[in-house]
Amino acid sequence: MAEVRIKAVSKIFGDVKAVNAFDTVVKDGEFVSILGPSGCGKTTMLRMIAGFERPSLGEIWIGDELVSSAESGVFLAPEKRSIGMVFQSYAVWPHMNVFQNVAYPLTIKNLNKEEIARRTNRVLGLVHLDGYAERFPNQLSGGQQQRVALARALVCEPRLLLLDEPLSNLDAKLRESMRFEIKELQRKLNITVIYVTHDQSEAMAMSDRIVVMHQGVVQQIASPVDVYETPANETVADFIGLVNFVPAELTADEVIFPSLGHAVKRDNACRGRARVGIRPENIALSKTETGLQGTIVHKFYMGDATDCRVAVGTETLRVIAKGDGFREYQDGDAVWLRLDKMIVFPVGDKA
Ligand SMILES: Nc1ncnc2c1ncn2[C@@H]1O[C@H](COP(=O)(O)OP(=O)(O)O)[C@@H](O)[C@H]1O
Ligand SMILES: [Mg+2]
Repeated sequence: MAEVRIKAVSKIFGDVKAVNAFDTVVKDGEFVSILGPSGCGKTTMLRMIAGFERPSLGEIWIGDELVSSAESGVFLAPEKRSIGMVFQSYAVWPHMNVFQNVAYPLTIKNLNKEEIARRTNRVLGLVHLDGYAERFPNQLSGGQQQRVALARALVCEPRLLLLDEPLSNLDAKLRESMRFEIKELQRKLNITVIYVTHDQSEAMAMSDRIVVMHQGVVQQIASPVDVYETPANETVADFIGLVNFVPAELTADEVIFPSLGHAVKRDNACRGRARVGIRPENIALSKTETGLQGTIVHKFYMGDATDCRVAVGTETLRVIAKGDGFREYQDGDAVWLRLDKMIVFPVGDKA
């Protein structure tokens, strides 16, 4: 177990600033995800923590040990950092059986046979691979191979576990069940985890906190609830979940939507122009003919919900109703809506 302190870390490749002044503390035993679109610098940041990459600027501490410092030239090799790492490609060795794969980090430490067997079998049990010790990787499913990689990362009892999109190669159902397994494992071992993913639902489901990245820059570090409900900026609101953006004017007690021909009562701290984010599930069908009138453009039945495009004024809003909220409606029908929750981004606040 260890706290990880990342202080103003940047990584520059030629003229690409892959990571720009990354700064955070991951607490002992915390599960933190780094979330963002492909190419935003997630893997580069993780590789710097692991020691596969040297920071161009800044420093990294694991526990009370300085492991990388661009400024003072300190650099601890990956194998000396006492971390476990799991990659998207399972990276298990095809010529070794499950036991040999998992035991490998212990065998290169020259431990005795009994101890290697004891620790390897224990960790195989943890990832539910008891009974698979003799199998070779080509006799395992993708999910089982990923468990072998996880077991191998844990067998040395690392103080920190780093995972880089470990579930991306698995099919949807397995991916969901592996989320729970990884989370269970983290709780059981009480280990610090830094988890890289571009999949927001994965990050939301597992993390204590999420670091949202965009083009090398950290946008927000917060709990899943806060990242979703009070995103720091439009980039975060747009990346996490679905959102309609509508231009607005803020007065002291109203949000006016010129393009919708509508206004909503609300006390505002700021005045003037704004962009307002409205999540599709926060637009409710109004039973009475009050509120915002629109016309259903397309209705998609999703089983557990109905996903509609509704024309209102000059906008087309996406509206998602749980259950059979839109059951009686058809494309072309008039509908009355209510905006239940808004995320207001004053335009003047933009840098
Ligand atoms: N070894 C490298 N040399 C040059 N550019 C790199 C290298 N590794 C990553 N990059 C660039 O850095 C940026 C961030 O990449 P990466 O950290 O892999 O993103 P992510 O994991 O979020 O998809 C990308 O523009 C990528 O092309
Ligand atoms: Mg990556």
